[in-house]
Amino acid sequence: MERILIIDDEPMNLKLTKFILDNAGYEVVTTESGISGIELLQEIPFDLLLLDIEMPEMDGLEVLRRVRNIPEIAKIKVIFLTASNSKSDLSDAARLHAARFIQKPCLPDVLLRTVREAFEETTASLLLIVDDEPMSRALTRNAFESQFRVECVASGRDALNFLEQAVPDMILMDLYMPGMDGLDTFREIRKLEHCRHIPIIFTTAAEDNETELELFRAGAVDFIRKPFIAEIARERVKRILELKRLQNFLHEEVDRRTAQYMESARKVQRLTKQIIFALAGAIDAKDAYTNGHSSRVAGYSREIARRIGKDPQEIEDIYYAAMLHDVGKIGIPREIISKTSSLTEEEFEVIREHTVKGEKILRTISELPRLSIGARWHHERYDGGGYPDGLSGRDIPEIARIICVADCYDAMSSNRCYRAALSQRIVRDEIARGRGTQFDPDMADIMLQMIDEDTGYRMREH
Ligand SMILES: [Fe+2]
Repeated sequence: MERILIIDDEPMNLKLTKFILDNAGYEVVTTESGISGIELLQEIPFDLLLLDIEMPEMDGLEVLRRVRNIPEIAKIKVIFLTASNSKSDLSDAARLHAARFIQKPCLPDVLLRTVREAFEETTASLLLIVDDEPMSRALTRNAFESQFRVECVASGRDALNFLEQAVPDMILMDLYMPGMDGLDTFREIRKLEHCRHIPIIFTTAAEDNETELELFRAGAVDFIRKPFIAEIARERVKRILELKRLQNFLHEEVDRRTAQYMESARKVQRLTKQIIFALAGAIDAKDAYTNGHSSRVAGYSREIARRIGKDPQEIEDIYYAAMLHDVGKIGIPREIISKTSSLTEEEFEVIREHTVKGEKILRTISELPRLSIGARWHHERYDGGGYPDGLSGRDIPEIARIICVADCYDAMSSNRCYRAALSQRIVRDEIARGRGTQFDPDMADIMLQMIDEDTGYRMREH
């Protein structure tokens, strides 16, 4: 008895499909998840897989992609059950060699017929012959039948109907047909996303080089003159199919490698983020009363960057640079950093060094060259009175001008062990007062705007 596995996340569909197939005498196993379906396939031998396309967690296309990569089960016959009409789904599926689809909700006789056809189908390639002349159709069928599965239709319209149900490996198309001729049909087929890659060979009795050239230019893969010698025609078709197979393999390989590469790129990105966060935690741990300072400054800086219209990559750079702006504090003695009484001039001098030390630390991260900019210049003042270099105005890098205002906002709006957070009014006044002297006026304006929008004073340490 033929054994069928159905994977569908909708219990009702699952029951219904199983009921129909049970009654037709098949042995049916069902599961609602792609992952358990793949496990079942590896445990029990199945003859056919009915696979829903749209499923949460892992969709049908991904399930099939995995199945095709497990050698013991890679060759299983598959029918997609799809409620979606999306042609790109179908195109993906076609590339994974699943030639059949059933539109949901499926009618019992359509389901049974498709399943039967799938079982009858050999692994030979499927050729679709499109020819209006019965004699010519019969001759072509005879020529190929011994080595291929052959389906014949008598018009371009019929060919398009056929392609709604199945994706052949190749189409042999008569050029001159009444109504929609070969070239028109060809163009219509190419408009179908899931048929775009099917090789099409034209057959014609015409001795006309110009037509031949036109067909090649339109994208036909070959041209066979009728009457043809069966053996030569078969060899040509075989060669083209082999090339196509290699091309598909190459496509899949490229997709697989691209996915692998993307995954490792994402991993590196996650790792970078985690290391930056860990380092920021180390900075904040050094200074007992600025807990969470780095990530808050990073958050405010990101918002400012967004409001001045930076692109996502720049916003992320600014976020990370802000996260690490005080990294140089790691190199400053704890008793100076955490001192609550007023600092001596010498101690101030030591504290100021955190900018230069920070730059030195971050300069070694050559993959993120902008990180060190924030560290070195976030204490510069717009009027030139800051440190370490006394830069002024636009000579101060933009990242640093952003971090500067975010840094001061957080210093005033967060609790310190020697004082509570300042009121929002005072913080606002201070930012406004520093506009154009301590802060870049544009950045200060954005900070003021953010404060004004924050009517509940929620944007601060909690
Ligand atoms: Fe700082």
